[in-house]
Amino acid sequence: MVTTNPALAELGGYPLARLQDLANELRADGQPLHDFSIGDPDEPTPRAIRDALTDAVGPVSRYPTAAGKRELREAVAGWVARRHGVTVDPDAHVVPSAGSKEAVFHLPLAVVDPQGPRRHVLFGTPGYPVYDRGTRFAGGTPDAVVLTPEDGWRLHLDDLPTERLQRACIAWLNYPHNPTGATADLSWYREQVAVAREHDLLLASDECYQELWFDQPAPSVLEACDGDLTGVLALVSLSKRSGMTGYRSGAIVGDPELIQRMRMLRPNVGTASPDFVQAAAIAAWNDQSHVDDRREVFRAKRDVMLPFLEAHDIEVSGSQATFYVWFRAPGGDDAAYAEALLGERIVASPGRAFGPGGEGWLRLALVPTVEGCRAAVTRWSEAIEAGRLPG
Ligand SMILES: Cc1ncc(COP(=O)(O)O)c(C=O)c1O
Repeated sequence: MVTTNPALAELGGYPLARLQDLANELRADGQPLHDFSIGDPDEPTPRAIRDALTDAVGPVSRYPTAAGKRELREAVAGWVARRHGVTVDPDAHVVPSAGSKEAVFHLPLAVVDPQGPRRHVLFGTPGYPVYDRGTRFAGGTPDAVVLTPEDGWRLHLDDLPTERLQRACIAWLNYPHNPTGATADLSWYREQVAVAREHDLLLASDECYQELWFDQPAPSVLEACDGDLTGVLALVSLSKRSGMTGYRSGAIVGDPELIQRMRMLRPNVGTASPDFVQAAAIAAWNDQSHVDDRREVFRAKRDVMLPFLEAHDIEVSGSQATFYVWFRAPGGDDAAYAEALLGERIVASPGRAFGPGGEGWLRLALVPTVEGCRAAVTRWSEAIEAGRLPG
């Protein structure tokens, strides 16, 4: 029998896979299904981005490089300067990624010493599962910090005991936050930068939802560094910003020494983006108007969902940014409520799928169209009024 990597054996399935299987079973009968489970919206990728991709498909195919085209790194640096007011050098401070998921997964491989005393990796839960998974495969030890609504679902490094900080090598941040939609402000980022520097931790900030803000623009950790990016990386992505989940394109921006390490690591991994994807990415980073348009679409969906939940006294928490709405399970049990919603052909993710601290909450990913959100709300209201669902 061939051996199994213990990290793989420990995992079990990907947390939302079971829910997807159930949703697919329901979908098979051809009746409408209101699927709010996976963060992959229905809106089309802007035309100019699609055209940039197809125009770049040449007759001869060549291996892309891990460092990517300089024009792409320049486009990322240009966006960082315009959006965050931070000047970064396209060569020293930027390396492209194939979306942020693989970058989150691979980053610990460049940092964790599996035999060393600082092999722990800190991250908040409920949260995106890949911080934990990437840590395990790199031979590190995941160290989950349970987030709470009282703290606005924010991770506070300065609340952790010194020994917990001193045994870690990376602290992950993720604001705007999946799954709660919580945000963080610049002073909070400054506090985390200070603690990370004091304890020689890499502060890795997963900022893939940064353009999906509704009240005020979400800041980046890069803004909290006052020009010195030592020990800090921001992971940015076009998936949510530009409706490009299928293109797989993002970037890692920050500390030049760590970027250099990623440039050494990444040619071994085989995740360099094809040249035509890079061409599309250049078009996307260089344009902001489609991003503003997309934000308004998600605002319209929120304007359907939030008043509905409020009208039924369903408590909403976080939900200031991202395309997620995070609400407390009526009756208290997220798994039972998700199952009852499935009976109404509405798919929402139970909070426990995102790790400790998520129990009792559910996440709606606003992926159906505005019309689809309205139809779901109509069905949901009927079920509450008929007593099939607790309100
Ligand atoms: C918090 C978080 N990080 C990273 C990702 C991965 O995004 P992508 O690889 O498409 O950039 C997701 C996707 O849903 C996410 O929720």
